[in-house]
Amino acid sequence: MEFREAMKARKSIRGYKPDPVSKETIQNILDIAVQSPSAMNTQPWKLYVVGGETLKTIGKENIELLSSGTAPETEVRFPEKHQGVYKQRQVDVAVQLFQLMDIGREDQMKRFEWMQRGFRYFDAPAAIVLAYDAIMEPASLVYFDLGLLTHAICLAAVEEGLGTCIHGQGAMFPQTIRKHVDIPDDQMIFNCISIGYADPDFPANKVETPREPAENISSWTGF
Ligand SMILES: Cc1cc2nc3c(=O)[nH]c(=O)nc-3n(C[C@H](O)[C@H](O)[C@H](O)COP(=O)(O)O)c2cc1C
Repeated sequence: MEFREAMKARKSIRGYKPDPVSKETIQNILDIAVQSPSAMNTQPWKLYVVGGETLKTIGKENIELLSSGTAPETEVRFPEKHQGVYKQRQVDVAVQLFQLMDIGREDQMKRFEWMQRGFRYFDAPAAIVLAYDAIMEPASLVYFDLGLLTHAICLAAVEEGLGTCIHGQGAMFPQTIRKHVDIPDDQMIFNCISIGYADPDFPANKVETPREPAENISSWTGF
C-alpha cells in the first residue's frame, strides 16, 4: 500500500466487528512499527497487547469504577482544557460524533453510554497499551517517541485491513489495566490503541475530521 493511501485511509475507528485479530497479524504490525525513530535511538516504548476476555474484563471494571464515581486518573498528565482554535477543533469533532450517534445535547443517558463505550475500548477485540520506563522522566522526548510509534502502528494496521483508535480514555483507569496485565510498577502507562476490524455500519466511523491545510501552518524561508 502506498504511503499516501495509508495516510488518507487511517482514521479513528470507534465501532468494531467482533471478529478476533490474530496474534500473528498484530505481531506483524508491531514488527514494522518498531522501525520508528526515537530520540538518540532510546526506543523507550513498552507495549502490552491485551485481547479476548481480559480486555472485556478490564472494560467492565473501568465502567464499574466510572459508575461508582471514581475519578479517572491518568499516570501521565495531560492538559485538562484547551483554548481558542484548539478548543474549537475539539468541540467540532465531538459535535460530529454526537450527531452521527444521535446523542442529544441534553441526553445525559446517551452521553454516559457513549463515554462508557470509550472505557470499554469501543468493543474492539484487542488493545495495545503503551508504557515507558519511569527512569525516562521527565518524559517529553519519550512522549514524542511514543507518538511516532503510535502513528506507525495505526498506519501498519491500515495495511493489514484493520482499524484503530488512539485513545487516552483507555488509560484513564490504569489501576484496572495493572490488575489484569503484568506491568512493572516502575513503568508508566501512557496511552492506548484499540485495534480490530472496523464495522463499516457503525455511525461514528463516518466522522470526517478536517485538517488545516499545510500552507496555513507553514512558512518558508530561503526558497
Ligand atoms: C493522544 C490521543 C488521544 C486520543 N484520545 C481519544 C479518546 O480518548 N477518545 C476518542 O474517541 N478519541 C481519541 N483520540 C482520537 C482523536 O479524537 C482523533 O485522532 C482526532 O479527532 C482526528 O480524527 P481521526 O483520527 O479520525 O483522523 C485521541 C487521539 C490522540 C492522538
